[in-house]
Amino acid sequence: MSLSTVFVTGGAGYIGSHCIVELLSAGYEVIVVDNFVNSVNGPDGEAMALKRVETITGKSITFYECDLLDKSALEAIFAKHKIDCVIHFAAIKSVGESMEYPLLYYKNNLIGMLNLLEIMEQFGCYQLVFSSSCTVYGEPSFLPITEEHSVGNSITNVYGKTKYFIEEMLQDITHANKKWNIIALRYFNPLGAHPSGLMGEDPIKPFANIMPLISQVAMGRLPVLTIFGGDYNTEDGTGVRDYIHVMDLATGHVAALSLLQKSHQNYKVYNLGTGEGVSVLQLVKTFEKVTGTTIPFKIVERREGDISVMYANADLAEKELGWKSKHTLEEMCTDFWRWQTMNPHGYRNKTTKMTNGHH
Ligand SMILES: NC(=O)c1ccc[n+]([C@@H]2O[C@H](COP(=O)([O-])OP(=O)(O)OC[C@H]3O[C@@H](n4cnc5c(N)ncnc54)[C@H](O)[C@@H]3O)[C@@H](O)[C@H]2O)c1
Repeated sequence: MSLSTVFVTGGAGYIGSHCIVELLSAGYEVIVVDNFVNSVNGPDGEAMALKRVETITGKSITFYECDLLDKSALEAIFAKHKIDCVIHFAAIKSVGESMEYPLLYYKNNLIGMLNLLEIMEQFGCYQLVFSSSCTVYGEPSFLPITEEHSVGNSITNVYGKTKYFIEEMLQDITHANKKWNIIALRYFNPLGAHPSGLMGEDPIKPFANIMPLISQVAMGRLPVLTIFGGDYNTEDGTGVRDYIHVMDLATGHVAALSLLQKSHQNYKVYNLGTGEGVSVLQLVKTFEKVTGTTIPFKIVERREGDISVMYANADLAEKELGWKSKHTLEEMCTDFWRWQTMNPHGYRNKTTKMTNGHH
């Protein structure tokens, strides 16, 4: 008997696929949509990350290739399945690209969300977990950042604004209609991979996150890691972030869903972070230590719009969701590197190379 059926958008992507492992293990049934704008598909239109999820969990996943901008396709899926709740990961997320192509970002992220909310309402499905981001806080006015920190004031990029605008939308609809039962999770900086080495991060679009870049340097595919800004007011001058293991994010989603199913929340927001600030140089050193590699780096000018220091106060999630991050920075690096060495070409290689005795 499954707990209930979760509709997962963007589930072929990095965080979504890892989250599905935990959802299946917790007893949920999942129906996944993705349009492969940033995830790898196989020759038969299957989602490669989800094949690995099936291998790991021994369970099967219903998958549809579907663009959230295609509302009638979305409607057909809701008409076919009885969907109890939704986790909405689907979005495009490159900060740099969002500044170059703002319309693309507003269209994909905002219209995708609007279509989904309208279809959910049409089918009487009111439970939603939304992937928000710590970017909604802009430049922090105090640290560690709590959920009470102001949002939307100093967001310097279009991607971050799409998350902020969606949060505003969610606040308005939950205020107008108390049937809605929504949690927005503000992730800090996801890192790492599933400990099996079978799943990890394999974007199609240019890298948006630091870890794939570090590991490209470790693999010798990039000569040097470029670090933006060495003169921030931090211990070593490089930017400080709150890195969180992707499997911790995954359990955070299961905790959020179970709270929504246990009790009516209307609208809640939680930070998902570790509460610890780590500088870019500390991350690089930890990666070198646990992988035995050397990462040549060069420090260049700050990048416009980058924030110097950002880390979470995640006490509210602990208190109300009963969730706390468990994995260390070392584990984030080890797990990412295992994925990278076992799958030098990500999901695109036909065979998975087993190394270091991991099977
Ligand atoms: N990775 C991060 O650093 C981070 C931090 C905070 C928040 N988030 C948010 O978490 C969510 C998941 O991020 P991720 O890192 O897994 O990204 P990802 O790109 O790996 O996954 C997103 C998935 O959504 C799909 N998608 C995008 N637009 C779509 C559309 N219109 N229709 C159907 N599918 C679509 C993509 O193909 C991709 O598979 C996103 O909403 C992202 O903004 C990510």
